[in-house]
Amino acid sequence: MVTRGTTNPNRLRRVDNWIVAHAGPALRDAPDPLVVDLGYGATPVTTVELRARLARVRPDVRVVGVEIDPSRVAAAAPAADPPLLTFVRGGFELAGLSPVVVRALNVLRQYDEAAVAAAWATMTAGLAPGGIVVEGTCDELGRLASWVCLDAGGPRSLTLAAKLSTLDTPATLAERLPKSLIHHNVPGSPVHGLLRALDDGWRDAAPYATFGPRQRWQRAVASVRAAGWPVVDRPTRWRLGELTIAWSAVDPSSDVSDKSRKSS
Ligand SMILES: C[S@@+](CC[C@H](N)C(=O)[O-])C[C@H]1O[C@@H](n2cnc3c(N)ncnc32)[C@H](O)[C@@H]1O
Repeated sequence: MVTRGTTNPNRLRRVDNWIVAHAGPALRDAPDPLVVDLGYGATPVTTVELRARLARVRPDVRVVGVEIDPSRVAAAAPAADPPLLTFVRGGFELAGLSPVVVRALNVLRQYDEAAVAAAWATMTAGLAPGGIVVEGTCDELGRLASWVCLDAGGPRSLTLAAKLSTLDTPATLAERLPKSLIHHNVPGSPVHGLLRALDDGWRDAAPYATFGPRQRWQRAVASVRAAGWPVVDRPTRWRLGELTIAWSAVDPSSDVSDKSRKSS
């Protein structure tokens, strides 16, 4: 469905940097280095930025902005630089393309949660072998963000990311959880437990704030891992204000407390 087209320059910098780090090897090796930016919004500024960031990984990367709203496809035409950057009309079926990476940020946010599973299945079905979908949400300026990484087998990880110099407390990330999780952030659910563990770690690490918010975040993530959460990224990513965790740890479909809440 056509939804609000709000976007902003540099809004998706955090997720783009993560894509460069995680999909860079697959893009370098791909016979066809094709990337889809699904739902780029009222202006294609973040699609132009994505292409520039990925060109550092592979100069011949092709980025196609796919939008459901034809007026936004027409408005993006002046920014096109074919064949490296083009804009077409389409939806979750990715306009029939087979990309190595799909970035779909702030698209599902405006849908019902019930639409998520079908959207995920349609997008992942279109991927090239070894491809990934990165689907998530962020605030207007991209200071708080979260995204799910999926491959052909389904969701694999959840990443939380924040601009540390302006972060008050990790609990504020709750407002920017992906659609699949935002309504499950209630006491007793896995995602609520994760945010609480991160918040507790952040509070306990307050003395490290003297050394800067990065040190404090790194300590907080280390304490989340020490508490048994399956953190899957390395400290080199933590210092960027990220935390990536195995999807199985937050999967609402395997949350017993959530099922009992629904049936009660
Ligand atoms: C809020 S904007 C997001 C813009 C940009 N991705 C960002 O994060 O700044 C959401 C856009 O997704 C588009 N959209 C919604 N559903 C879509 C779908 N199924 N396929 C393609 N685009 C879609 C809307 O038309 C809108 O332009």
